[in-house]
Amino acid sequence: MEKRMLIIDTDPGIDDAAAISVLLSEPSLDVRLIASVAGNVGIEHTTNNALKLLAFLKKDIPVAKGAAAPLMRENRFATNAHGMSGMGGFDFPEPRKELLLENNAVMNEYKILMESEEKVTILTLGPLTNIALLISTFPEVKEKISEIIMMGGSTERGNIGIYGEFNVSIDPEAAKIVFRSGIPITMVGLDIGRKARLLVEDLEELEQSGDPGVMISSLFRSYDGGHVEEGVKMYDPSAAMYLMEPELFETKDAFIDVEISSPLTIGATVVDYDGTLCEKRNAKVCVDVDVERFRRRYVQRVADITR
Ligand code: RIB
Ligand code: CA
Repeated sequence: MEKRMLIIDTDPGIDDAAAISVLLSEPSLDVRLIASVAGNVGIEHTTNNALKLLAFLKKDIPVAKGAAAPLMRENRFATNAHGMSGMGGFDFPEPRKELLLENNAVMNEYKILMESEEKVTILTLGPLTNIALLISTFPEVKEKISEIIMMGGSTERGNIGIYGEFNVSIDPEAAKIVFRSGIPITMVGLDIGRKARLLVEDLEELEQSGDPGVMISSLFRSYDGGHVEEGVKMYDPSAAMYLMEPELFETKDAFIDVEISSPLTIGATVVDYDGTLCEKRNAKVCVDVDVERFRRRYVQRVADITR
């Protein structure tokens, strides 16, 4: 079977871990790199968390350390949701330091893209700082990227301020660069992750499905204040499931741009479906998800994780 080549750019992060865990057991994917970026927590923690997750999953995927800060702004960590380490709620093994590559994430993403005969999909689960640096420094990589699938933005309200979504709002200039790049983009926004919640019954099923399920349920029970009775918002797992099972989602073509000036709406993703702004559509947006099927398929994928 022809495998789909994939780079994961991520700020683990509890929901990042829940997404990466199922991606690494998908047989049709050839995951060439996990690139860390500062986001939920600082770069040392996000990098270490990726290495700890790989130790738990017993997977030999190279890791490269990425940007320690947004292009033009200060870090704003989300330790309230993810814990001080970024992956609070489960006692992981020691990080597999031997998987950490010499060079930084941007150089390693560049190398993989330019050496690959096939186009490569990039899945972003954190701020877009690495990707903005990559395509600004090496514009020739754009034609080697088949698609960027991002957990980011929102077609409705945000989680940073009124309209900002965390990954876009932490580094809105980076997001603007990526949306203007001409690279095919699919945006899986907050609104989808808010719909595709796992319920307590799903967590209980995860806990019966083996060690990976116990790990993911433990993380979710400490995520975002641990209010699991309201359902666990599946932000990053939604983007991962879109990559693996797009038929679970409904998408629309749109023009998307990012607010970088107004303090009131900084980081807002302005989504124009019908050409009001007279701009060429530059992205697909997920606008709906089959929640029941999403929950069943995610829980099954966790049960099927091989270590
Ligand atoms: O807004 C949700 C996103 O921000 C998720 O990717 C979460 O991990 C944080 O990075
Ligand atoms: Ca994330």
